[in-house]
Amino acid sequence: MPPFPHHKIQASISVRQATARDAQELCNLINQAYGSTSSWANADHTPQSQRVNLHELNDLLLNTRKHLLVATITSCGGQEKMVGCIQLEYCKNCPGCRLPPQSIFLSLFATHPDHQGQGIGRLLFQRALDVAVEWWSDELEAAYLWVMDQRQAIMNWYMKLGFESTGAKCETEGKLYHVLRKSILAREVPV
Ligand SMILES: CC(C)(COP(=O)(O)OP(=O)(O)OC[C@H]1O[C@@H](n2cnc3c(N)ncnc32)[C@H](O)[C@@H]1OP(=O)(O)O)[C@@H](O)C(=O)NCCC(=O)NCCS
Repeated sequence: MPPFPHHKIQASISVRQATARDAQELCNLINQAYGSTSSWANADHTPQSQRVNLHELNDLLLNTRKHLLVATITSCGGQEKMVGCIQLEYCKNCPGCRLPPQSIFLSLFATHPDHQGQGIGRLLFQRALDVAVEWWSDELEAAYLWVMDQRQAIMNWYMKLGFESTGAKCETEGKLYHVLRKSILAREVPV
């Protein structure tokens, strides 16, 4: 009889706020996801070789206006592995901000390439909206995100999640992005 495998097949996924100690693992995860050539979301564009560096992530994790949620899998042996993340930032008349007040901006949305297409992205998105409503519901009106021009696969998915194009475009580091908006008045939050 072959030996019983030690690795665990089933693991549970949870979502928590990132801390400064997560910086290196987050950096690896984000760059792997954005740089993956096997990702369904990258099928129609050239993946980014480096989306973020460790210095930027350390700064981000110290920024009290920005919050990173991370999805983790804990094996039955108790070991935690980071499998996804999403950043949310509350925009409240911040100087120089290009978004309307009472909105959140979502970015650094990533699932580890080995775990894409398993529902982790949708889970993170929903959790980000839940958290935003919990923290800022009295004032919150909409969520915004940017999608790079010609990324039709991911654009289609965001439309399924309730985003609409605002028609606005912005350019950063020589790349063109479409600005998408989703109303998140408390009563409209998905269940
Ligand atoms: C975008 C991303 C975070 C989504 O995470 P994910 O864990 O793959 O998302 P999910 O598993 O929840 O699947 C998302 C949807 O894609 C669909 N999907 C899965 N495989 C697919 C494929 N091969 N082609 C098209 N759609 C596919 C799923 O059916 C699902 O749709 P549903 O929610 O209506 O069921 C992830 O793909 C990623 O990290 N991509 C690279 C980084 C990136 O592009 N970030 C966003 C920048 S705007």
